[in-house]
Order: sequence, then C-alpha cells, then structure tokens
Amino acid sequence: MNSSIEQLLNNQIKYEAQASIQYLAMASWADAQGYNGVADFFYSQSEEERLHMTKLVKFVNERSGKVLIPALEEPKHDFESLNELFEKFLNSEIYVTEQISHVIYECLQNKDYNVHNFMQWYVTEQLEEEAMARTLLDKLNIIGNDKSGHYLFDRDINVIAAKQSNE
Ligand code: FEO
Repeated sequence: MNSSIEQLLNNQIKYEAQASIQYLAMASWADAQGYNGVADFFYSQSEEERLHMTKLVKFVNERSGKVLIPALEEPKHDFESLNELFEKFLNSEIYVTEQISHVIYECLQNKDYNVHNFMQWYVTEQLEEEAMARTLLDKLNIIGNDKSGHYLFDRDINVIAAKQSNE
C-alpha cells in the first residue's frame, strides 16, 4: 500500500475513533440530563463510529498496511443545550466527510482504485449521517426553547432517525 494512502487511512481511523468517543460523551451528557431517547441515539451512533473505525483497521491489515491505533483527544463533555449537542454532531459529521473527500482525492491522484472503491461505502454513509444530523438540528431549531417540544423530541428521536435513514 502506498505510504501516503496508508497514512491517510490511519488518520481516518483516528477521526472515526474520535467521533465514537465524542458521541459516547454526548450520550452520557444526555443520560445525565434525563434525555433518555437522545442518550440511546448517541450510544448507538458511538457504536456505529466504532464499526467505521474497525472496518478501516481490518481493511488496512488485509492490504498488508501498518495500522497504528492512535491516542485520542479528550471529547467535549458538557453542553449548554440540545441545540449545542446537535450542532456538535453536525459539525463532527461535516468534518469527517471533508476528510473522506480528501482520502478519495488522494486515491485518484495516486491511481489507487482499490482504496477508492472501498471508500465509496464511507461516502454513502456520510451522506446519510449528515442528512440525519441536519434533520434533527432543523427540528430543534423549530422547537426553540419550548420544554414540551424538547420532551417530544427526546421521546421521538429514534423514530425520526429511523425514518430519515429509510429515505
Ligand atoms: Fe463514521 Fe459519521 O463518521
């Protein structure tokens, strides 16, 4: 495997791992605030990001590359509101999408069509996750500061998320 592509895939392992622990911290914050639906949503997102990370680890190993499991930065633990929580979610997904685009660009520059092909799965996944994050943040922006709206959002988030991912 080309060493610059190997480096980029190792970087991507870190971004996915970082997203996984960030979403775990977000799940824990929501749990502590009594937003059980939001907590379940982020526990599940955290698991998904861990799978994205592991899929990359396995792929690099299959291609006889060298995986270096990275040290992570401390995640953000505290949030002012559900809006801030979901803004962080959307920004995190946008960041990961940008990094994936960068990997794909470099694959084309290096004519590494195998990695390019592998990364298409991540492109599709990111499109879905960004769309979901935007939908949820839009709903929260409509709700504003209405406490009963937050109650319903927390109750229905997993239905909204499931509907979004089926579209
Ligand atoms: Fe795997 Fe949503 O980044």
